[in-house]
Amino acid sequence: MDERRFLVLGGYGAVGLTVARTLLRHTETAIVIAGRDGERALEVSRQLAEEFPGRDVRGVAADAGDPESLRKALSEATMVVCCHSATHLAGNVVRAALETGADYLDIHFSQEHVAQLESLAVEIAAAGRCCITQAGFHPGLAAAFVRRAAPFFDTMESTVVALAMKEVIADRTSLKSLLRDIDKDPGAVFRDGVWRRATWRDSVRADFGVGFGERSCYPIDLYEMRSIPEQHGLSEAGVYAAGFNWFVDSFVLMPAYVLHLNRWEWSLELLSHWFVWGLRRFTRPPFGTVFQLDARGRHQGHERVVRIRSAHEDGYLFTAIPVVACLRQYLDGSIRHPGLWMMGHACDPVRLLADMNRMGVRTEVTVDGAHVDAEARR
Ligand SMILES: NC(=O)c1ccc[n+]([C@@H]2O[C@H](COP(=O)([O-])OP(=O)(O)OC[C@H]3O[C@@H](n4cnc5c(N)ncnc54)[C@H](OP(=O)(O)O)[C@@H]3O)[C@@H](O)[C@H]2O)c1
Repeated sequence: MDERRFLVLGGYGAVGLTVARTLLRHTETAIVIAGRDGERALEVSRQLAEEFPGRDVRGVAADAGDPESLRKALSEATMVVCCHSATHLAGNVVRAALETGADYLDIHFSQEHVAQLESLAVEIAAAGRCCITQAGFHPGLAAAFVRRAAPFFDTMESTVVALAMKEVIADRTSLKSLLRDIDKDPGAVFRDGVWRRATWRDSVRADFGVGFGERSCYPIDLYEMRSIPEQHGLSEAGVYAAGFNWFVDSFVLMPAYVLHLNRWEWSLELLSHWFVWGLRRFTRPPFGTVFQLDARGRHQGHERVVRIRSAHEDGYLFTAIPVVACLRQYLDGSIRHPGLWMMGHACDPVRLLADMNRMGVRTEVTVDGAHVDAEARR
């Protein structure tokens, strides 16, 4: 049994519980489930202990807004895995981790916390702690996919990352977390050497393959992508997300985004009801999540197109599996270095995708339409 103990903050939330379960399935670490409701954390930890006999699973109360409770909860943890929705409190969690000597990983979609983490980067490195941010699939996989494609080119010119979800999610708390984050980071696209704020005109059509087809996708902003064009000499880059279905896009996401209806608890209540109803009523099978990259460039004097496509039936597992694939690289020491890192930049992308494949995320790499071995590097 591994002596390391991961505390999953937000561990009984929709993603947190899936991360905890996937960690128990694919690693040997002990797990602590944590959130503001100590009883719920304890109850969920008991259920997991029953599901995984012989494993060390505990539950504890911890509030990202209460430094004392964080220090107490983290005192026996070697890492805090942040799957909570209080993104704005990320700085508190890092400070508590520094005080108690724990490493840190977060999966937050909203990008607002990255500045908090960057302001602590010198302290993190000086304390010898490893902090990983931007883990998951969005963020998480965009930079990893670009790095996975790069060796197939002499010069890579453009990258279009696109994602689509067809899911019937009934968890209103999780949907409210999604709605709260929706307008925090306006989309961005990289054109003519600069990132600029996207408009609806920057939307693209992406073909997601069988069962999903061609969908309109809108630019989103992922911090992990900001340095990628310069690192790879790209002239164009962008990450785009397809909507859920016409009803949810028009009557839930649009009002939340354009009218900022996600500011009030009463409107979040209403929107999350419509969200669940709209997903049930208008989302058609096959269900699942697709995440893909189309990269263009040149190889030995010819144009080349590389496509990487990953898919899974369950969006929560599609979030948890990359996190655990990243943590496996952390656990064996290959990315456990002092400092602040982004998952998509720190991980070995070939191994990350191969591990994801083994854990159930189907991944295909094609070069000019021909399949290549999942572990091929060129
Ligand atoms: N990277 C990716 O690919 C990806 C994909 C999906 C989601 N996410 C991220 O995953 C996170 C969670 O999403 P979700 O759908 O699982 O949300 P969720 O179901 O609402 O779960 C949120 C969890 O956070 C806990 N929490 C809230 N405030 C807290 C606080 N102050 N201190 C400690 N725990 C707190 C909640 O429990 P209590 O309220 O009882 O404390 C709950 O367990 C979000 O940050 C989201 O952006 C990332």
